[in-house]
Amino acid sequence: MKILGIDTSCDETAVAVVADGREVLSNIIASQVKTHQAYGGVVPELASRKHIEAINYIVKKALTAAAVTFSDIDAVAVTNRPGLIGALLVGVAAAKSLAYCHKLPLLGINHIEGHIYANFMVHDTLTFPHVCLTVSGGHTLLVEVHEGWKYKVLGGTQDDAAGEVYDKVAKYLGLGFPGGRIIDELAQKGNPSAIKFPRPMRNSGDYQFSFSGIKTSVRYFVEKARRTGVLVEGERTDVKRANLDVITIEDIAASFQAAVVDVLVYKSLHAAKATGARTITLTGGVAANSHLRASLKAAAAQSGAEVYYPPLSLCTDNGAMIAGIAYQKYQQGLRDGLSLNADANGSIAAESPTA
Ligand code: KG4
Ligand code: ZN
Repeated sequence: MKILGIDTSCDETAVAVVADGREVLSNIIASQVKTHQAYGGVVPELASRKHIEAINYIVKKALTAAAVTFSDIDAVAVTNRPGLIGALLVGVAAAKSLAYCHKLPLLGINHIEGHIYANFMVHDTLTFPHVCLTVSGGHTLLVEVHEGWKYKVLGGTQDDAAGEVYDKVAKYLGLGFPGGRIIDELAQKGNPSAIKFPRPMRNSGDYQFSFSGIKTSVRYFVEKARRTGVLVEGERTDVKRANLDVITIEDIAASFQAAVVDVLVYKSLHAAKATGARTITLTGGVAANSHLRASLKAAAAQSGAEVYYPPLSLCTDNGAMIAGIAYQKYQQGLRDGLSLNADANGSIAAESPTA
């Protein structure tokens, strides 16, 4: 069964064709990064406008890349929750038109379920229940995932998402947007112990996160370091490294990343231990982070747990994960009507909860 999957929940116009929930025949993404870069973050109004420009072309490209036509497609799936409302509506309107014209079943999908599903597409040995850490620009969630795609939300962020703080810290440091990959790369050249940034809620005993305190600490630190001339911007040299009165951008990146990753790893392991899950899956844009992957793997290995993460093309927003989970939902009987609407909030807690 071939499903066309559409995701326009944020700043990527993403369309894919997936066979039987796992075989990715095409996975096409039109990135809007250049449009939003000038603003240091995603501008919702511009995102909607770029989606409407790109959507038909990207659908066509996805079909061509998969070497199929609409006569080969069995259903149309679209992210209709959660996300930027204007952006979601473009994908939903396109999916409805396609489903109507080609007389195909329509499925509205939760974007977070897509992210959670991404690991299942590539890891044949993934078992249930497992604990999934979803970390992206809009979400930070720890979810227990059960057979039949049933979920128990263990915790989430009370303020900023992990990717959001990466992007904001990159902005304070004048590094550009999106900041996650840039900070990840800089951090590899910095000293993670140079500055002790706070680890909010690390020892709260639950699975809640709070990242805005780390973000604010970094901002104050950077402002003060710039005022007092302690911060050295630009290329790091051995001379700077030897001078203890000097802090480099790389040190700030590494110290900030150490704080965020420490909390994410600590709580994920705590969740795996408490639920008895032997597997932790990582997903969402921040799952691309090299330090997070390595730290979580190392920490999990100590307690005999395994860590899975998908390839980059399935970590960040994409249509394949939407077509993939839609296949499972189709088997479970899900069909939506042409009155399908978009929902900016659509929490995962409301999707098939465990009993
Ligand atoms: O999943 P995604 O593509 O979109 C959302 O649903 O939000 O995630 C994008 C986020 C951005 O905040 C970006 O800075 C972050 O993922 N990101 C990273 C890395 N690559 C992307 N964060 C940390 N380290 C990375 N290597
Ligand atoms: Zn996402």
